Amino acid sequence: MPAYTRTAIVLHWLIALLICVALPMGLAMQELALSPLKLKLYAWHKWLGVTVFLLAVLRVLWRATHAAPPEPETMPPWQRTAARLAHGALYALLLLIPLSGWLMSSAKGFQTVYLGVLPLPDLLAKDEALGKLLALVHEQLNHVLLALVIVHVAAAVKHHRVDRDDVLVRMLPWLKH
Ligand code: HEM
Ligand code: HEM
Repeated sequence: MPAYTRTAIVLHWLIALLICVALPMGLAMQELALSPLKLKLYAWHKWLGVTVFLLAVLRVLWRATHAAPPEPETMPPWQRTAARLAHGALYALLLLIPLSGWLMSSAKGFQTVYLGVLPLPDLLAKDEALGKLLALVHEQLNHVLLALVIVHVAAAVKHHRVDRDDVLVRMLPWLKH
């Protein structure tokens, strides 16, 4: 059975896990009143986001050099196109969301210090209005990600339970055992 490489599988699930933490954290941390905890959560959120970015760069490079297994023969052409478009959009979001976060932090005048030790360069000069705009971009991109992930998971479950093909198992080989 054609499968994803172990590296592709590990990167897929590691990134999915980090997003499941970073996304709700982003939503929750904004609601808190200013406190040391809030600042800590902002810092952790940025570290998680930068980690997602680094893993996503690795993943895109890996994907560019290692083809994905072909879709099952039984899959209609419109579904293949939809899946390819959705996967392309997910990859783009994995890069654009952290980038928008980094740019937003620069524009708001809060430098990102990765893991508390590695200061990332501020790519933009401080600019309140631009900071607000980028916060909106970051938020909207996250809404698109959330919607796409819901469809993505629903499609995976449909493949497994309704179509009964190997699409979920080849990304989650432990299911078989
Ligand atoms: C894949 C990675 C990331 C995800 C899934 C994510 C998700 C989110 C979400 C859902 C919010 C709340 C948006 C809203 O409702 O307004 C948020 C806010 C925020 N994110 Fe991210 N984020 C990521 C990466 C980053 C990175 C890399 C940085 C900075 C280096 C960052 C900085 C921020 C900041 C500063 C806020 C608060 C904005 C505000 O207070 O207006 N994020 N993030
Ligand atoms: C934030 C969460 C997630 C993101 C960003 C994400 C992203 C992606 C991307 C970009 C691919 C395309 C891989 C490639 O062909 O190079 C993919 C494949 C896949 N994902 Fe996810 N995923 C997430 C969560 C999940 C979850 C929770 C499930 C299962 C319930 C899942 C099931 C799958 C499956 C089965 C494939 C293989 C599709 C195929 O072989 O055509 N993903 N995912």
